[in-house]
Amino acid sequence: MDLGLAGRRAIVTGAGKGIGRAVVETLVNEGATVLAADLDPDCCAELDAMSNVRAAQVDMSAADAGNRLATLTHEVLGGLDILVNNVGAAPLRPGFLEVDDDAWRRTLDLNLMSVIRTVRAAIPLLSGSDAAAVVNVASTSGRYPEPMLVDYAASKAAVLSLTGALATEFGPAGIRVNAVSPGPTRTPLWDQPGGFADALAERHGLPREEAVAHHVRDVRKVALGRPATAQQVADAIVYLVSPRASHVTGTVLAVHGGMATHLM
Ligand SMILES: NC(=O)c1ccc[n+]([C@@H]2O[C@H](COP(=O)([O-])OP(=O)(O)OC[C@H]3O[C@@H](n4cnc5c(N)ncnc54)[C@H](O)[C@@H]3O)[C@@H](O)[C@H]2O)c1
Repeated sequence: MDLGLAGRRAIVTGAGKGIGRAVVETLVNEGATVLAADLDPDCCAELDAMSNVRAAQVDMSAADAGNRLATLTHEVLGGLDILVNNVGAAPLRPGFLEVDDDAWRRTLDLNLMSVIRTVRAAIPLLSGSDAAAVVNVASTSGRYPEPMLVDYAASKAAVLSLTGALATEFGPAGIRVNAVSPGPTRTPLWDQPGGFADALAERHGLPREEAVAHHVRDVRKVALGRPATAQQVADAIVYLVSPRASHVTGTVLAVHGGMATHLM
């Protein structure tokens, strides 16, 4: 199926690994050109080596990140059709009382303020497109709060609310705004040393892979019994930013394999 993305210009944040990287690769395979933002210089070098991708080494939690990306987009792409606000981090917490103001601020700056600032800076560019689309990457945690991810879950709940407000305000201008809510997704967030998989192993007192399987099947109750791949989430994101979804706005597309706590 042709998604109608040939020649489209896109920004993807947190583009170096995991879901963001899969989104960049899929958009490029569909004929789009991408400005790919990431903090990690090695990731940026890899992205820069891809055709039709220009890397921007930007800390998306910084106050000026959105404006920097918009300026670069204007210079490099000459306009903008697609914005994928993907960047996010999920720090694991012992409990609410252990999360101080600085920690809350860091989480909110990266997971929520980066979306606010990037959309604000991108609106003038998106207004010039005849097929403008934004996808904000939220999380099932936004509707399934738990102490281990207390600040993360709150930030993602806010992203869901923001998505609805933006869709309502900018729909008349032809800018579609949707969210994708992944459930457990096997990315470097899980597999890096000290990542989610290691934390689950410690929490459940099981070997790593058994702990992941137990968490996905028995704790999060994923009907399909396994985590998503980054590509499975990227496919949902790329569908929503494509003209194939041209009458879809203000929705949340959940990619969680049938989590019992989130059905219907
Ligand atoms: N993996 C999951 O299980 C899962 C589940 C639900 C939602 N999500 C959401 O999906 C999105 C992507 O998650 P992922 O699992 O692919 O993450 P990941 O940790 O695998 O990759 C994140 C990327 O963002 C970059 N990054 C981190 N901090 C940055 C910063 N300050 N500025 C710029 N770039 C930065 C990293 O270098 C990396 O390339 C996040 O918003 C996350 O909350 C993930």
